[in-house]
Amino acid sequence: MQKWNDENIGLRGAVALAHFFLRQYLRPGDRAVDATCGNGHDTLLLAGLVGPTGKVWGFDIQPDALVATGARLAEAGCRGRVELIGAGHERLADYVQEPVRAVVFNLGYLPGGDKVVITRSPSTLIALDQALQLLTPGGIVAVVIYPGHPGGAEEAAAVEGWGARFAPENYSVWCSRQLNRAATAPYLLVIEKMA
Ligand SMILES: C[S@@+](CC[C@H](N)C(=O)[O-])C[C@H]1O[C@@H](n2cnc3c(N)ncnc32)[C@H](O)[C@@H]1O
Repeated sequence: MQKWNDENIGLRGAVALAHFFLRQYLRPGDRAVDATCGNGHDTLLLAGLVGPTGKVWGFDIQPDALVATGARLAEAGCRGRVELIGAGHERLADYVQEPVRAVVFNLGYLPGGDKVVITRSPSTLIALDQALQLLTPGGIVAVVIYPGHPGGAEEAAAVEGWGARFAPENYSVWCSRQLNRAATAPYLLVIEKMA
């Protein structure tokens, strides 16, 4: 029977699609940011893709999330290439001062954690602006959006409005939804900075 691990979940949902894009863009030696570490699944993917010569910065405001992420990275033997930062991603530019090839946001609340602690549009939009500034030409920002929880729809609308205002000569902004799932299902925004 097929075992559905992170390597072969196909396109089963927005996180899988985000990972598909990240795999296309990131190469060994690249720099990347996980703006919402949570339980560290995305951070681990980034660390694997950039390899031992690359670097990843990971942000979360919850100490439990950083502990879980650090443990996941250590178990995989790649803790040394990731700088974990206990600060909001709206302070991205304070901590990352070199160009990066990819930034991933996985919005909403920490699975298994406090559902009251959610990403919120004012800080999310500040962080997204900073992410675009840091991005190398040809790089991407991937944003997994969750409209289903309280506050989620408002944040989703804010992120879509933010993405829609960029000139297509400068950024390609894509929105991918699953037509055969509920309207509240998670979906993906991908922004590519034109080379
Ligand atoms: C959906 S979870 C992320 C899932 C994670 N990427 C994974 O692979 O498990 C969202 C995370 O965003 C974090 N968060 C909320 N506001 C934040 C902020 N301003 N800056 C950074 N992280 C934030 C939450 O603490 C939570 O852990």
